[in-house]
Amino acid sequence: MCGIVACIIKDKAAPVLLDCVQRLEYRGYDSVGIATLSGDIYIKKNEGKIDDVQKKLDLTDIPGNMGIAHVRWATHGLPTGKNAHPHTDCKKRIAVVHNGIIENYNELKTILQNEGHIFTSDTDTEVIPHLIEKYMEMGNGLEVASRLATKDIQGSYAIAAISADEPNKIIGIRKESPLIVGIGENEFFLASDVPAILEHTKNVIYLDDNEMAVLDLDGVVIKDIDGNVLDKEINIIEWTADMAEKGGYNHFMLKEIHEQPEVIRNTLMEYPEIENVVSTFPEFNRICFVACGTSYHASLVGKYLFETMLGIPTDVVLASEFIFSEGALNAKTLVILISQSGETADTLRALKIANTKSETLAIVNVLGSTATREADHVIYTRAGPEIGVAATKTYVSQLTCIYMLAIAMDGNNNLLEKLQKVPGFMKNALAREDHIIQIAKKYKNSTDFFFFGRGFSYPTALEGALKLKEITYIHAEGYAAGELKHGPLALIDDDVPVLAVVPPGDRHDKTLSNVEEVKARGASIIGVGSSEDAALRLESDDIIGMDNDISEILSPIPYVVPLQLLSYYISIERGIDPDKPKNLAKCVTVE
Ligand code: M6R
Repeated sequence: MCGIVACIIKDKAAPVLLDCVQRLEYRGYDSVGIATLSGDIYIKKNEGKIDDVQKKLDLTDIPGNMGIAHVRWATHGLPTGKNAHPHTDCKKRIAVVHNGIIENYNELKTILQNEGHIFTSDTDTEVIPHLIEKYMEMGNGLEVASRLATKDIQGSYAIAAISADEPNKIIGIRKESPLIVGIGENEFFLASDVPAILEHTKNVIYLDDNEMAVLDLDGVVIKDIDGNVLDKEINIIEWTADMAEKGGYNHFMLKEIHEQPEVIRNTLMEYPEIENVVSTFPEFNRICFVACGTSYHASLVGKYLFETMLGIPTDVVLASEFIFSEGALNAKTLVILISQSGETADTLRALKIANTKSETLAIVNVLGSTATREADHVIYTRAGPEIGVAATKTYVSQLTCIYMLAIAMDGNNNLLEKLQKVPGFMKNALAREDHIIQIAKKYKNSTDFFFFGRGFSYPTALEGALKLKEITYIHAEGYAAGELKHGPLALIDDDVPVLAVVPPGDRHDKTLSNVEEVKARGASIIGVGSSEDAALRLESDDIIGMDNDISEILSPIPYVVPLQLLSYYISIERGIDPDKPKNLAKCVTVE
């Protein structure tokens, strides 16, 4: 949801800003822009992906040792050149980049226009430089003017601002949109996310809501929105710059799929920490998972697990719908928020509500993100930076944390032992890649797809369908297999491939009957099940064989791997960039 960067360094800023903003491209790719300061403000910006704009404009060809940059995921105003950030005031003496939404921008724009300000874009952001201009004209410096501007604004924002009238200063302010401060050696950064600046520093301060950072060549001062200086902790980031590179793969998504066995191993090392967290829990009589998208699918596995293993009533609520669950919360409810980014606006809103009534636990990948600072307890998924928009390795690490949490709450060490074998099962699934490429070629022109499974395989079916939708643009539905004949069976005919997730176990035979039902209506079957499952092989047009000793309860982790690969390769066959699917951004920081 837009990425912002700012830096003040010893050398030329534009190439550094370009490099940093390229590392944020997973947050948005409608347009890109850079502004630097060297006496005057210099701006280059346009619509399109960064590489294309760079080829046309050479964004690095502007002077100065400080500046700001932006990649956009459009909210207000079309993704055009004029709406690309940075935006400026009337005299082009102030430049601003922004991530978030200014809810009262129409009202502010009208007031500013009546006061004589000239607007040149359709964005909500443009009110910010004009407000700063207004307050600077009243005699305030950039810092105070920026603070006053944010007091007029309703909504969410991470802002970086510079002014030609106050060279050598960058202001960053945050409210409900992520913003970090990077502290290098005599160089300082602002960024929406850690991977943007890993190449330059691993020392990071996380800004909280209504805090601002004032950067100059001598250092950084953090203040609250009333100007009081704050003493903030500097965090050392463990991630390396290499982790956010493609490492020889064509796409981040493929690299991240292949990293999954190692990710599970790293995440399993969190078990003692999870036991610590569990040891502090009071007694609960209800669990409520809250999440969006892929993280919601991981939560569904949590529901099956917690209810079957622990017998604790467990609900799963979409974060955007959580407000309706508020009335049912109490001190005996554990609310578990699952989020890769820890910055998803709907999830953070739900966390705020849950914190007032219940104990909260956040399972998050990004260290220091807002959810980790606001929840009562935190468990980290050790997946490393995930750059591909489609969640892959973070999904399986979320699942691993959920299993470990259930095991720690239940004391079932037998399942913990079985979890150790999952990386090996995943490796074997990855070894089916060539076969999956052939299946992708066969089904690449399909217009509709069905995925189904029962019990623990139902979330896998949902996740397979989501992956296919988001990176291939093929319409896909994920269903609980038993639900098919309650409506969707009417849609099945010869043109519709059905991917059936059928691991060995209690649900196997019933799911196989569902396979027969859709086959009888002409569907082509892609069966995903044990390589020793002769019955499934017989029913399937194509089969993806998994290790026979994967138990049903643990199947969600290894069984999602072939579904991720299938989507990836269909995306490639269709000429789509799976790392940057249209209309989507990695982190959804607006509600
Ligand atoms: O960062 P979060 O886990 O809170 O993000 C939630 C969803 O936006 C996310 O899982 C999304 O559905 C995935 N990128 C899909 O692959």
